[in-house]
Parts: sequence; C-alpha cells; structure tokens
Amino acid sequence: MISHREFRPAVVVIGGSGGIGRAIASVAARERGAIVLVARSPEGLAAAAAEVREGGGEAFTLELDLVAGDAPTRLEDFLSAHGLICDVLVNSAGYGLRGAATALPIDGQLGIIDLNIHSLTELTLHFLPGMVARRRGGVLNLSSVAGFVPGPYMALYFASKGFVRFFSEALHQELRRTGVTVTCVAPGPVSTEFLERSGAYQTVLFNILPKLDPEAVAERAWRGFKSGRRLIVPGISAKLAALVATLLPSAAILPLIGRLQRGGNDPCPCGSGRKFKKCCGTRQIQLRRGPRRTIP
Ligand SMILES: NC(=O)c1ccc[n+]([C@@H]2O[C@H](COP(=O)([O-])OP(=O)(O)OC[C@H]3O[C@@H](n4cnc5c(N)ncnc54)[C@H](OP(=O)(O)O)[C@@H]3O)[C@@H](O)[C@H]2O)c1
Repeated sequence: MISHREFRPAVVVIGGSGGIGRAIASVAARERGAIVLVARSPEGLAAAAAEVREGGGEAFTLELDLVAGDAPTRLEDFLSAHGLICDVLVNSAGYGLRGAATALPIDGQLGIIDLNIHSLTELTLHFLPGMVARRRGGVLNLSSVAGFVPGPYMALYFASKGFVRFFSEALHQELRRTGVTVTCVAPGPVSTEFLERSGAYQTVLFNILPKLDPEAVAERAWRGFKSGRRLIVPGISAKLAALVATLLPSAAILPLIGRLQRGGNDPCPCGSGRKFKKCCGTRQIQLRRGPRRTIP
C-alpha cells in the first residue's frame, strides 16, 4: 500500500493518443515527470508513449473509452495503482460532425455532448478538489474558435466548444489565488485527424483559415497554462476570427457562418432527402433573383 506522501504528481492527458493531446504530452514530457496518456487506440497510445520517453518523461498508458461510463473511477484506480496523483489534467479528447442537425444521426450528435461536454466536465470536477487541497496544478481544456459563435451545420460541435470556453473561464476566475489554474485553449483549424473525422475539412470556413501544426498549438498551450493564462487563442488568424465573432451581431454572423459551412451536396435540412442545392438551395437562389420565377 502506497502512503499519501509517496504519491507522485502526473500530467494526465485525455485524448493523448493523437493530435493536439499527443503533442501536449510531448511538450510536458520535457519537464521529466510522469505523463499518463488516456485514449482508446492501443497503437496511438504506444506511439505517444514512445515520444514521451524520447522527450525525457515517464509514460503510462490507459486504454479507456471516456463515454463508456465510470471513466473517473477507472482513471483514479489506475493512478493509485501506479502511485500517481493527477496534478495537471489536459482535456483534449473531442469530436465534431458537419452537416445539418436534422440530417445527421441523433446518436452521433448526442455523442458530442457525452464526450466534449459530459466527460470533460466530469473529469474536471472529479480532479479539481484534490488540486485545490494541494494548492497546485490545474486543468487545460481544449475549446476552439468555434466556441466564440453559434455554428450552423456544425451546431452541436460549436455549442459544445462554447460550453468548454464558458465553463473553463468561469472556473479560472473562481480559482484565483488558490494556486490552481484552469486554462482554456481555443485554436482555429489544426492539422490533425479531427478535420477528416468531423468532415470540417470540406467547409469553406475551415479552409480559409490557415492550419496550425499540433506541435505549435501544444507549445503555446503549455506555456500559457504554466504562466496561469485564462484563455489562449493560438495564431493571428484565429485571434482575428474570434474578435470578429465577438463583435458582429448574431443577425450578421449566423448567415455568414451558415454559408461558409454548408456544402451544396449536403442532404437538405428540410428532410426531403434531396441535395440542398437541388432543393431549398434552389429556392433561396430563386428568391434572391426576384419574384418572376415560380417557386415549386
Ligand atoms: N484539429 C482542429 O482543427 C481543432 C481545432 C480546434 C479545437 N480542436 C479541439 O482540440 C481537441 C483535440 O483535437 P485533435 O485535433 O487533436 O483531434 P484528434 O486528432 O481527432 O484526437 C482526438 C483524441 O481524442 C481521443 N478520443 C476521441 N474519442 C475518445 C473516447 N470516446 N474516449 C477516449 N478518447 C477519445 C482520440 O483517441 P482514440 O481515437 O485513440 O480514442 C484522440 O487521442 C478536441 O477537443 C477538438 O475539438 C481541434
């Protein structure tokens, strides 16, 4: 049995098998401490662990589906068994789906709430009290520039990232002077599998914004977290996008985001089963051209 005094602090990276999480783990490894990588894919975890060791850290891996239930208990048991405590929690697991909310599968959309919101919140609330009691450590949560604005055709994803931003920024304020930091990172597009998996790579919006490397995002995120920052928006273009989204009224920004995210080949949100450009898309074009054409 390990006594409380013998527990070592660890950086726990949720979503550490790939993308931004894996890059953050590599940056944190330079401090030569324990890094716990949590995700589902054994191959991704093994590759990330090798990078952590190369960087000078001590790697531990836990295969865990965060939405399968009981994730905090399983993670806590794993940490205890290895004589570790969660000193820093990095919540990087997340996914999105592009398409009209009425056309996308309901389960897939609810899954975004389960992972991006429920799991992130549950883990944060589970580990924060211990950090506060020890008066050290903190939480680094991944939001997005999508968290600054409602996002037609990626409605659940944008809303989930708005939640992460508001939740994290509020906690940052609540925990001032406790020795514990909560930092929110809100990048624009980053070159990871996320863009392909979510379908975001097909949208004009994600394509007009320059893509950052996960390594660059990780460097800025870790540096910002270490210096106690509340919000980090990496890169000039993402900062500009966030500023525009904050300044423009919803009546102006919503049609703009809708246009930039909609694909002409998408199923029409009206549920006709036809492509948007052959259904309500035609109707919109006809309406703009004037009243002489007949609308079916
Ligand atoms: N890439 C972008 O353009 C971008 C921009 C702004 C914000 N973000 C946000 O940044 C975060 C990281 O994104 P990324 O680009 O690094 O995505 P990614 O490359 O798809 O990586 C996602 C990570 O989450 C893990 N994961 C997904 N579902 C999981 C589950 N149910 N249980 C356990 N682990 C799970 C994945 O591992 P397994 O598949 O092995 O489980 C992987 O390690 C996300 O929250 C995303 O919303 C991304």
